[in-house]
Amino acid sequence: MSLPTRAVVFDPATRKTQLQTLTLAEPVADQVQVKIVATGVCHSDLHIVDGDWPVDTPLVLGHEGAGVVEAVGPLVRDVRVGDHVVLSWFAPCRRCDACAAGRAWLCANTTATANTLPDGSTPYAEDVLPFLGVGTFSEYVVVPEAAAITVADDVPLDVASLIGCAVTTGVGAVTNTAGVRPGESGVVIGVGGVGQAAVLGLALVGADPIVAVDLSGPRLELASELGATHTLRGDDPALAERVLEITGGAHHVFEAIGRVPTIESMPGLLRAGGQAVIVGMTGFDASVSLNPFDLADRGISVLGCNYGSSVPSVDFPRIAALHRSGRLPLSRLVGSGGTLDDVERAFADLRAGAGLRTVLRP
Ligand SMILES: NC(=O)c1ccc[n+]([C@@H]2O[C@H](COP(=O)([O-])OP(=O)(O)OC[C@H]3O[C@@H](n4cnc5c(N)ncnc54)[C@H](O)[C@@H]3O)[C@@H](O)[C@H]2O)c1
Ligand SMILES: [Zn+2]
Ligand SMILES: [Zn+2]
Repeated sequence: MSLPTRAVVFDPATRKTQLQTLTLAEPVADQVQVKIVATGVCHSDLHIVDGDWPVDTPLVLGHEGAGVVEAVGPLVRDVRVGDHVVLSWFAPCRRCDACAAGRAWLCANTTATANTLPDGSTPYAEDVLPFLGVGTFSEYVVVPEAAAITVADDVPLDVASLIGCAVTTGVGAVTNTAGVRPGESGVVIGVGGVGQAAVLGLALVGADPIVAVDLSGPRLELASELGATHTLRGDDPALAERVLEITGGAHHVFEAIGRVPTIESMPGLLRAGGQAVIVGMTGFDASVSLNPFDLADRGISVLGCNYGSSVPSVDFPRIAALHRSGRLPLSRLVGSGGTLDDVERAFADLRAGAGLRTVLRP
């Protein structure tokens, strides 16, 4: 039986988003049908709407979601009807060399970035694809079970939704990509949804000092409450000097905006041997200018971070457990609410850097 579902669709022809009722196929093979209970609004959705990442086909936006499994296909093994699941926007194939080696974020066969299900199809009857293979701005989704990770029922689903992108990316950038150790210094440039999670990750591993940089006063205040020892404004002309003063040259800098000038500023904030971690996503065709003599001379590493170098089936439950034990206070990241009808307001807030992470309840 197919299922009608209200969804937020971005049409590249008009460059507008619209709420539409679409027809979702029932789950077959290893697919699961999930009722979305909460879905966060991430800057990556805005990259689509603002044309930074051009697409040819209309997309159901949203990729940071959690909900309850309502139906499963006959080949599903790990997920049960009634499970609370966090959706992964990078469903790994679980068979390629990278997946077999436990590096699912490097999966060679995922079709998520082509915005389709693993067989190249769409679950919708209409000519519409699910963004990153999930498309969570919808009442219901149908995804492969590799994209639906069960988490404990007592993790609130608004918190769980953020584990689907911002939290796993920000915390993972610290713990997995950079491998920050206690007492090392960390600088986070841009403390929106992803950057605040990086601050939480730095606090979790005992980094010190932790410097948060943003243009928004309230976001810098939240970063202090979450563990930043110092906050600095991104438009401070003496920013680099201040960072060097506080850290003596940072061990790790995380760019969590996706801007060329801030990415280019990272080596100048680092000590010899330091790591510059690119977490923010630029437009597809951006390029940055870095001084290769300086990188070689001072042994600086530049690391790319996809999804916090995380394995969803391992990292989602681990992060959920850290939330339950109080070590990662993720509820502090949940901002204003609303329904799918409020998506434009959420995008406007993201553009303006206002408020915290909006979490919609379809
Ligand atoms: N690498 C990944 O796997 C991954 C995953 C999720 C998101 N992302 C990307 O991470 C980036 C951040 O996403 P988000 O949802 O947290 O966005 P966001 O809009 O919530 O956060 C960006 C923050 O940067 C701040 N900012 C803007 N300009 C600044 C400047 N010049 N100096 C200092 N701060 C500045 C804003 O005030 C805001 O707080 C986006 O590019 C997104 O696409 C990457
Ligand atoms: Zn995201
Ligand atoms: Zn794979």
